[in-house]
Amino acid sequence: MQAYSHLSYAGNHGDVLKHVVLVNLLEHIKKQSSLKVCYVDTHAGAGIYDLKGSSTKTRQAYKTGILPVWEQSEPVEGMQSYVQLVRARNQDTLLQYYPGSPLFALSVLAADDRCYFFELNSEVFDHLCNTFACYKNVTVIQQDGFSAYASVISKDKCQAVFLIDPPYVESSDYDRVLNLLVQIYSVPSNVTCMIWYPVMKQACMAKSVAEAVSVGRVLQLELPVALPDSGTSMIGSGIFIVNPPEGFAETMRPVMTALQKSLSQPRHNLFTIRYLSELSFGYAGNCK
Ligand SMILES: C[S@@+](CC[C@H](N)C(=O)[O-])C[C@H]1O[C@@H](n2cnc3c(N)ncnc32)[C@H](O)[C@@H]1O
Repeated sequence: MQAYSHLSYAGNHGDVLKHVVLVNLLEHIKKQSSLKVCYVDTHAGAGIYDLKGSSTKTRQAYKTGILPVWEQSEPVEGMQSYVQLVRARNQDTLLQYYPGSPLFALSVLAADDRCYFFELNSEVFDHLCNTFACYKNVTVIQQDGFSAYASVISKDKCQAVFLIDPPYVESSDYDRVLNLLVQIYSVPSNVTCMIWYPVMKQACMAKSVAEAVSVGRVLQLELPVALPDSGTSMIGSGIFIVNPPEGFAETMRPVMTALQKSLSQPRHNLFTIRYLSELSFGYAGNCK
């Protein structure tokens, strides 16, 4: 595994999109279903990040991510819960700490919902264990998150929600995401999967995700934040949601509009919300 530390990216535009969507998705599922949720974070990270620490200083990615959202006085509908959690982890007006996906998920889930956090890196795993030591409904597992389906789902009868959020520093991560989806959706299952991706090879990925999922609908939300010739390596990010709850896409439209206003540098860049269908892809290039 190549070295990757999420500390350098914490609170960037990709994190903001991912965590706003995650909070809304879990809230929507909790409102619609009385089943217990089994939340699986296949690549959990550290749980919380110090933005003033030495690593983040070098990149300061949060300045074009959470910072403009933090500085707004009134969050729009659909952003309140997200902003409240970030505020709860900081004092007054100083933005120092940024929560990771495990904390955002727990802020929505109930005490009898189950959470499984997978993390391979030993140092990050220790941090995660310390942060969640007092949560009885959390299991932290130092194992490959791509093996999550086999080791977790068979144990619990529940509404399962997966967040699949690998670093994508290895190109094999793309194939491993697809393999996990094939495993999960080879049979009809009560699972919603949320997959985050950087905007780079997204046309290929959308086609492959649509093909991998034999059962269920796939919603794509994508937010470009810079133009392709801007010199920035990651010009945006996106999310696929397999089996989104009824009505979820509609509630995300004003949220995506607000995120675009806060995070997108060239203001004419448009976000995407669409359902994937294999038939709708004209793309036939080599995806490798
Ligand atoms: C993008 S970060 C996760 C960020 C986190 N989901 C969040 O939103 O706050 C990816 C994490 O996955 C870990 N990781 C890399 N490969 C892994 C694997 N195969 N299984 C589990 N964790 C892995 C890395 O150490 C890193 O902490």
